[in-house]
Amino acid sequence: MPTDKYVDNTLKELRKSFAATSADLWMMISCFHDEMRHGLSGESSSLKMLPAYIDCPGRQEKGTYLGIDMGGTNLRVLLVRLQGDGKTVIEDSKQYKIPRKVAMGEGKDLFDFVAKAICEFVGEYPITHQNKIPLGFTFSFPVKQTALNRGTLVEWTKGFAAGDVVGRDVVEFLNGSLQRCSLKNLRLAALTNDTVGTMLAKAYGSSDCDMGVIFGTGTNACYREQEKRIARLMHSDAGKRMIVNIEWGNFKHFPANKYDRKVDKGSNNPGVQQLEKMISGLYLCEITRHVVRDLIGKGIFLNDHVAKFRKGKLSTEDMAAFERDRSPELKKVGIFLTEQGIESSLEERKIIKQICRIVSRRAARISGAAISAVIIWMDPELRQDHTVAVDGTLYAKYPQFRQNIIKTLQQLHGAKSNRIKLSDARDGSGVGAAVAAAVAVEAN
Ligand code: GLC
Repeated sequence: MPTDKYVDNTLKELRKSFAATSADLWMMISCFHDEMRHGLSGESSSLKMLPAYIDCPGRQEKGTYLGIDMGGTNLRVLLVRLQGDGKTVIEDSKQYKIPRKVAMGEGKDLFDFVAKAICEFVGEYPITHQNKIPLGFTFSFPVKQTALNRGTLVEWTKGFAAGDVVGRDVVEFLNGSLQRCSLKNLRLAALTNDTVGTMLAKAYGSSDCDMGVIFGTGTNACYREQEKRIARLMHSDAGKRMIVNIEWGNFKHFPANKYDRKVDKGSNNPGVQQLEKMISGLYLCEITRHVVRDLIGKGIFLNDHVAKFRKGKLSTEDMAAFERDRSPELKKVGIFLTEQGIESSLEERKIIKQICRIVSRRAARISGAAISAVIIWMDPELRQDHTVAVDGTLYAKYPQFRQNIIKTLQQLHGAKSNRIKLSDARDGSGVGAAVAAAVAVEAN
């Protein structure tokens, strides 16, 4: 048995390597601004700063639109009615799980899968076969757009790797698949990132919404920028604004520890998406798994059961359940370990729970700093109110994640943090696809 002192010291070391002190976060914010500046001026930067070719909607858009939301693991098709005055109603929606083999297969098959889902969905609405119904497509990956309905995939993230799509226009891909499904009455009016969709959905009803954030399988944000600051726009209008998709998951100036480096090495996209790999749902469990294995190796706990912690055994959902577990004997942790064939003591279960907290707390603190960086980029003195539309399972379901972000904002900005309002935007990216389609139709 390791001595209590040895265990305490090892956990202390661990906490240190996951510290995100205020000084670290201010340093991060300063680097973030440099990277935003470089990205906007078209210089090399870890922040892609992709113009979205759309600004916030008014509140008057009306009509029925189809929204397609292709996120990390699921595809959602929605029929959304915009009632005007900022009100939306989801008339119907259906969710489809994207099979891993499709996400990793050929691009054509992936988009055929999307088109088939749309086909099945609209099949239930004969009316949509007669009327040309505009379609908004939320595609949650980095896309370099040249118009609201045109854009090429820069790279896959979040474990996707469908062949032959990078560098090609995703709208053409989807249109091709829709044609093959004989869905000639559908017209792809708008393509947006999920952060943009989330922000549009919120901004439709709330005029001070100027940022959209996702904390889910992946993480990213968008915000409202002055067109004149976006160097890559061919035509910018001095008084106008446009939403910019930051792709902050790729930010690389928060110091990585040895566990982060292991996660990166073991991922299917090493060298990129460093921030995403510290924050988002796809990776928190991997960080935790590497910590557990390391501490087992150090003789802290769980005998020599390293081999039982293979990749994929622990999910971020498990971590959330452990952190939520308030039973004196930490039942949830115990059941998980038993399922792996490990008998554990209460002390050992407590250590697992502590590791989850250390990992998730750092993620939330970095997330808070990233939000803060974008808000003070727009408003350095925090003179105005900012509504930040936030969606994603990590944010919605992981215990204390949201609260830890708020605490971080308070620590960074004191009383002025009241100016930053995090506003839940459930279903935002799907509804936002429909709002984007409405904006596109109005503009024509
Ligand atoms: C990944 C994608 C990004 C998306 C985010 C959240 O970071 O690159 O486009 O917004 O995940 O889904």
